Amino acid sequence: MTQQSSRRIGVLMGGWGEDEVSMKTGEAIALALEANGHQVARLFAGNALDTTLREAGVDVAFLALHGRMGEDGRVQGLLEVMGIPYTGSGVLGSALAMNKGFAKKLFRQHNLATPTGYVVPASKLKDVPTLHADLGFPCVVKPASSGSSVGLTLVHTREQLEPAIALACRFGGEALVERFVKGREVTVAILDGEVLGTCEVSHDGSVFDTQTKYDGGARYHLPPRVPATRVANIEQMALTAARSLGCRGAVRVDFIVPEIGNEVVLEVNTLPGMTRTSLFPKIAKAAGLSFEDLVERILEGAAMDGAHLHAAPTVERTETQVEAHAS
Ligand SMILES: Nc1ncnc2c1ncn2[C@@H]1O[C@H](COP(=O)(O)OP(=O)(O)O)[C@@H](O)[C@H]1O
Ligand SMILES: [Mg+2]
Repeated sequence: MTQQSSRRIGVLMGGWGEDEVSMKTGEAIALALEANGHQVARLFAGNALDTTLREAGVDVAFLALHGRMGEDGRVQGLLEVMGIPYTGSGVLGSALAMNKGFAKKLFRQHNLATPTGYVVPASKLKDVPTLHADLGFPCVVKPASSGSSVGLTLVHTREQLEPAIALACRFGGEALVERFVKGREVTVAILDGEVLGTCEVSHDGSVFDTQTKYDGGARYHLPPRVPATRVANIEQMALTAARSLGCRGAVRVDFIVPEIGNEVVLEVNTLPGMTRTSLFPKIAKAAGLSFEDLVERILEGAAMDGAHLHAAPTVERTETQVEAHAS
């Protein structure tokens, strides 16, 4: 390989949530990087991540993390502080995408339809009857900041509502309650600000639950079984959704496409699953991009939010200035 093979690439996996998927994603990425001729260090992300990165002498971090810490901007913040470029979205884009309540506000500001709903912090369970108002049933209750359908419940009755919210709050302290939108599940893969392709996922359940997601109970339709003009509109919406949060790199945007009525954005995934059988690589393959090529493209996009700040000259302070600052 060229130049790049002299850089040491740390593949960050494991971490603070959705570890099993993350380890699979990490291993698949590490193997692809090695096949491309790179030096790879497989790094288990945990509370001593700064030491781990320093000891491994990593030049670039390839993030294979999912969920809390790894996908929500915190690990990105650590890498910014350490001056290590990393793959995927920056601190703000990651944080906004992970917080579904905030992300939905931004989608609305950009005229993107998203299911009607509300956010409940664990401390406000008593306000649920007022907050729910005429939202009706069925509704979907999910953690406001989590992924992989963990802690998600399809709620049919008022009696089921509070227990479902309490369960969702166990994953991060806030629940998002949304009107259930019946329709096809469609996901758009975006790479470096351009649509790679769009796929429909069908399954037998009412929601795409964790088991179906990972145990192979899903069927994939590439392209989706909806008219091409509608797919084009969904793809435009996906680009707007990713831009509205300031995301970069590989991003997957999830939609529900009802038979009648507007398609709605559910969420933007800033570190989509990247095992060989995950959705993003499937879409990439249909677009003519092999898994190894996809991993290489993502690596090429590794960056830091504050790259321009590092280039700024440092100003030496005089002793008087330091004292004035400290007081
Ligand atoms: N408002 C909704 N209406 C219908 N189905 C939903 C709704 N919200 C979530 N789902 C179902 O739950 C799955 C996971 O929801 P999503 O918001 O994408 O969270 P995550 O993938 O981060 O767990 C979706 O793929 C879909 O099957
Ligand atoms: Mg999703």
